[in-house]
Amino acid sequence: MKIRFREDGPLVIDLPAGSRFVLDGREYVLDRPKLALCRCGRSQNKPFCDGSHKNCGFKAPAGVLELED
Ligand code: FES
Repeated sequence: MKIRFREDGPLVIDLPAGSRFVLDGREYVLDRPKLALCRCGRSQNKPFCDGSHKNCGFKAPAGVLELED
């Protein structure tokens, strides 16, 4: 699995649409082939990114975390 940290933006995980996952004890089903999680703290739809990072001056470096099985 690869987790991408977008420069000045969210944490993004590519997963097949329809994937089920549990986050903070709540189950979700992905409606698109990627999961974007807020890391700026300004999203109105936490824990997901809603694009608010673009307007709040959030700065963070890009990066990639690769997890092996
Ligand atoms: S990273 Fe996008 S809204 Fe927070």
